[in-house]
Amino acid sequence: MAAPRPAALGLFVDRLDQLLSRGAGEPEVLASGSAWLAELIASDDWLPEPWTRPGERYRQYPLHVDPAGRFSVVSFVWGPGQATPIHDHLTWGLIGVLRGAEFSQGFHFAGRHAMVPSGAPVRLERGQVDAVSPNIGDVHQVRNAFDDRVSISIHAYGADIGRVERATYSEDGTPTPFVSGYSQIP
Ligand SMILES: [Fe+2]
Repeated sequence: MAAPRPAALGLFVDRLDQLLSRGAGEPEVLASGSAWLAELIASDDWLPEPWTRPGERYRQYPLHVDPAGRFSVVSFVWGPGQATPIHDHLTWGLIGVLRGAEFSQGFHFAGRHAMVPSGAPVRLERGQVDAVSPNIGDVHQVRNAFDDRVSISIHAYGADIGRVERATYSEDGTPTPFVSGYSQIP
């Protein structure tokens, strides 16, 4: 199924495209992108139903992948109680909660073979935006805040995120190579 292009999503994509086309640096991308993503998720009526469907594992549906691979936008759908492994991104990322809520627990390395939580988990409520990148903290574990309902967040990344060769981590910091790919509409 072709990705949807509702007007609100189209505006967000066009804004990011123009910002990246003029060579904006990461701080500006994160600042402007956060504001634009907050606008996008302020209303909850634009994402067609097929891109809201949960699965046996969390789903990452592509909404837009830049033809040049400079950025991508996905719909991330959490079934009740679902969680990611600890993982990195290796690029900037913006996370905006469209529906429900989620917890993000940051991690950092403490020596070569140890990974420790960076403070307490952060609860992101509907309408809130969070950011990751190798410069500001890139490793986290995310879970649906609810055990009895679906949560959905809209993410933007500074790469074709489904193809990035990155890593998941065990609790002791041992990395496992990870390419997320994209979910297909069931
Ligand atoms: Fe993440």
